Amino acid sequence: MEERLQKFLAEAGVASRRKAEELIAAGKIKVNGKVVTELGTKVDPKKDEVLYLDKEVSKKEVDLVYIMLHKPEGYVTTAKEQFGRPGVMDLVSQIEARIFPVGRLDYDTSGLLLLTNDGELTYKLTHPKHDVDKTYIAKLYGTPDDMDLQKFRRGVFIDGRQTKPAKMQILERGERQSTVEIVIHEGRNRQVRKMCEAIKHPVAQLKRVATGELKLGDLPKGKYRHLTPKEVKYLKSL
Ligand code: URA
Repeated sequence: MEERLQKFLAEAGVASRRKAEELIAAGKIKVNGKVVTELGTKVDPKKDEVLYLDKEVSKKEVDLVYIMLHKPEGYVTTAKEQFGRPGVMDLVSQIEARIFPVGRLDYDTSGLLLLTNDGELTYKLTHPKHDVDKTYIAKLYGTPDDMDLQKFRRGVFIDGRQTKPAKMQILERGERQSTVEIVIHEGRNRQVRKMCEAIKHPVAQLKRVATGELKLGDLPKGKYRHLTPKEVKYLKSL
């Protein structure tokens, strides 16, 4: 059966779907001996020969790998970094498959980060229309009051656009800082930090503890584990 070239590449574990589109546009993919730069190109995986860096791409050869990493603060989520800061890929270097992060966490955020070579799943999980809940524990300056919690529930304006409703629950009140649980549905740039700034309680520390029903649990900082088959099934069902 024919399918779009970028989808085929993503399912074969070459890259995420967006990255696959970039590879096509950059002329890095050959179909039946010819460079193809047209994004809508259809291929039949049974009949057509697809090459990336002159190596054949085949769906059968890749084992799909699904990893949960406890990202420490002080690591970037991008693959290459211009300032020479350490990256999350350094923490999963024993994994031989060409995995990549699903979405990202800020340099100074810790917590649950998924990595996989399943480009299709990455595409689904990071697409704005599949707003999977993301749960964070944050230390904030000051303690938000009921009005602040209400603002959060309604959504606040960041970068000129209102966020979808979010939840905030106070877990601990301190003199200078409080600990809260925050659940958001989108994945906008530095969203939690900006939302907390908007209610005048900036973030001092931020950790993602769950993506949907997947929980970080007691996975130590800097360590990773493979997802269980049940967890993978759950992600695919989203
Ligand atoms: N929101 C943020 O502000 N930072 C993250 O890393 C994730 C969500």
